[in-house]
Amino acid sequence: MTRIRGDRTPAWSQLQAHYQNVGQGLDLKEAFAQDAQRFARFSQNAPYIFADLSKNLLDTQAQDLLLQLAQQSGVLEHRDAMFAGQAINNTEQRAVGHALLRNPPVAPTDRAWSATENIANERTLVHPTLDAMLAFSETVRADTGITDVVNIGIGGSDLGPQMAVLALDAFALSGKRLHFVSNVDGHELAAVLKHLKVGSTLFLIASKTFTTIETMTNAHSAKAWFTAQGGTDTARHFAALTTNVAAAKAFGISTTFGFWDWVGGRYSVWSAIGLPLAIAIGATGFRDFLAGAHAMDEHFRTAPPEENLPLRLGLLDVWYRNFHGFTSRSIAPYHSALRRFPAYLQQLEMESNGKRVDASGESLPFGTSPVLWGEPGTNGQHAYYQMLHQGTDVVPVEFIAVKKARHSLPVHHELLLSNVLAQAQALMVGKVDAGGHKHFPGNRPSTFLLLDDLTPASLGALIALQEHRVFVSGSIWGINSFDQWGVELGKVLAKDVQARLVSGDASGLDASTAGLLARLRS
Ligand code: F6P
Repeated sequence: MTRIRGDRTPAWSQLQAHYQNVGQGLDLKEAFAQDAQRFARFSQNAPYIFADLSKNLLDTQAQDLLLQLAQQSGVLEHRDAMFAGQAINNTEQRAVGHALLRNPPVAPTDRAWSATENIANERTLVHPTLDAMLAFSETVRADTGITDVVNIGIGGSDLGPQMAVLALDAFALSGKRLHFVSNVDGHELAAVLKHLKVGSTLFLIASKTFTTIETMTNAHSAKAWFTAQGGTDTARHFAALTTNVAAAKAFGISTTFGFWDWVGGRYSVWSAIGLPLAIAIGATGFRDFLAGAHAMDEHFRTAPPEENLPLRLGLLDVWYRNFHGFTSRSIAPYHSALRRFPAYLQQLEMESNGKRVDASGESLPFGTSPVLWGEPGTNGQHAYYQMLHQGTDVVPVEFIAVKKARHSLPVHHELLLSNVLAQAQALMVGKVDAGGHKHFPGNRPSTFLLLDDLTPASLGALIALQEHRVFVSGSIWGINSFDQWGVELGKVLAKDVQARLVSGDASGLDASTAGLLARLRS
């Protein structure tokens, strides 16, 4: 596999020239007026998702050059290397195998995974492990004595399952409350524990490494609470979801569901980390969730480049970040069940591509991960859309809408869908007003993702789409999107500061940290 960093390809300089000559002056209203086919040209179907890219600052030439950029950078070969189980996470010498977790038991792509011995052996464990995890989820669902399930985990061991459980609330079993405790802030655990009864609670300790300080601190406190309340049957009331089964056993948990080091934390909702979701929506629902993601994997793996949605979105991200110079992307899910989706995407994009060196450690001369942010519509409209419409910065918006409502309040859904359409329209068309304050510049880009229904399968496809578009931009940027060294320093310093908070020793500290430490101790 030959990877060539995007800025070292001929297409990169051609894109720069195209941006200077045409791209920066592209007028969306004019582009629509001149091309009756623009909507058809820049929209497409992908599994479970219709995507309209036509309100983006793109013309056919930019799109062609971006596809050439992908071709010249070796993105598709890099993709194939991922699907073949090669150790593309080079700084940790690991394969990147989350897509393997959603392969059906017998799938044509399964064969490709024999590329690495390590994965070749472990892949045979994927389905037995999934079966065991789903059998356990069915047992919990049938156990009417368990009313509360508390997931203790952070980062990828929290954001994915939490987001998905909320998103699929319409499919959830009633009679089970799911709680998510992630923060080391004791307020969070205490607020959950005070409503629980020891005999009716199941704790899931979710940690890939089983060493993360926040999770271990919360897990120890939960166990202490369990014992203090007279709980004894840990096999029924605790389960661990981890790659470090030995550590979970040492902690005193005998019910464990494993996964593997080739599943990154932020890509782990498909593994045992998805157990809270499986408890909520059941084994069949969870299998549908995997199948939806697998359909998107197959699309990414096989669709021609010009109709390959993750590829097109990843390339658009590069176009905006490196040529237009946009620094953020706003996520606007017009479905309240997707309210944690922006937070989920923050980790996915910013922990994957928030890097300032390429995979070989060389400093990058261009920007990488944008800042991702957002709230569900229509709430965001009454908070920060002012800035989107009239602020000094242009922020591409990604709207996500769902055609079908799963409630019986039709007027609400009509209003919701009218608003999402109107916002995308308003950003683009603007409004001329000589007065200034009432002037909307317009020409502000947006992407529109439309799902027929929010189901386990469509959610799976939507997440996989986002995973793969992050892969594409990271690949063009020459980044290793699958490590996260940037989180380490804070962890090390927190240990040092914790000792100082206890002892009061401020020697060698900067004056600000020392001053704050003294105030916290006084
Ligand atoms: O601190 C970052 C991180 O390593 C994430 O990548 C990960 O999802 C999270 O911490 C939790 O890690 P673990 O699942 O090992 O507890």
